[in-house]
Amino acid sequence: MRPAGHFSSAADATLLLIKFLHIQHPRRTLSKAYALVPAAGSGSRLGAALPKQYLEIGGRPLLYHALLALARHPRIEQVFVVLAQGDDQFRRYDWREFGARIEPLYCGGETRAASVFNGLLAARDSMAAADWVLVHDAARPCLGREELDRLFGELEADDTGGLLAVPVADTLKRGNRDSRVVATEPRDNLWLAQTPQMFRYRVLIEALRAADPAAATDEARAIEGLGLEPKLVLGDTRNIKVTFPEDLLLAELIIRGREEKPVKMRPGSKSGKRTARNAKKSGIRTRFRR
Ligand code: CTP
Ligand code: MG
Repeated sequence: MRPAGHFSSAADATLLLIKFLHIQHPRRTLSKAYALVPAAGSGSRLGAALPKQYLEIGGRPLLYHALLALARHPRIEQVFVVLAQGDDQFRRYDWREFGARIEPLYCGGETRAASVFNGLLAARDSMAAADWVLVHDAARPCLGREELDRLFGELEADDTGGLLAVPVADTLKRGNRDSRVVATEPRDNLWLAQTPQMFRYRVLIEALRAADPAAATDEARAIEGLGLEPKLVLGDTRNIKVTFPEDLLLAELIIRGREEKPVKMRPGSKSGKRTARNAKKSGIRTRFRR
């Protein structure tokens, strides 16, 4: 694994490229933005018969929910979906609702990083060097419009780009092989990385080309490998990644809660009673007995 801050010649070339992109695209020029959704995994930790991006919530696959906020965002020109080469599920669904805004690319690789890299290569005719690419997991079906607006708001004028993330809230324990606590770790400045992660096309593809695929579990890691510092943009804890079976139920509750447009709840108020009624209908408890 290449340590962060180590500069290969490819990394040096990329830094030069970043400087060049800034001369070509001064901050007042708005670059175009695209989304790229890796959806070529097998979902082995979830262990279902189908890859998890095709498990359904409310009659629609996780992939549909993951695409929704991206395809509806006015800043995003198009959403490229990277599918496994032998994918036979995608075409079973009717995607006409999205019109030409989504485009499947059957070029998934062995790892997530390889799928993203292959997708970027396959989309090269659509994207210019300085265009933004928002990479978002197909396994994150609860992305909201507000988080996307925050990403654009905070990164549009940024030199490097960045990612959604949430500060670590729980106390961190380091365990040994016997699951015994050996230390309590300080959680200051620790964040949990989410997606989308937003970087400029050419910088991202060069970063992934130079990265060790095993170490680059997200785009930000590859960018860090060039010695750059991606910006942490406050995400939302509801933007979960469906990894284990129990995550699917949680995602369903979050999606249903969003669809019902919850109103602010004050004890005894009419809106409070309405929220409680809505929540009861969908099986969500809003009050817990102590
Ligand atoms: N992904 C991909 N190509 C791969 C591996 C993963 O496009 N070779 C995608 C997944 O489809 C998912 C995202 O990357 O949308 C995040 O990966 P992860 O949650 O690890 O999904 P899987 O690899 O499918 O699950 P698992 O690791 O449990 O097998
Ligand atoms: Mg995986």
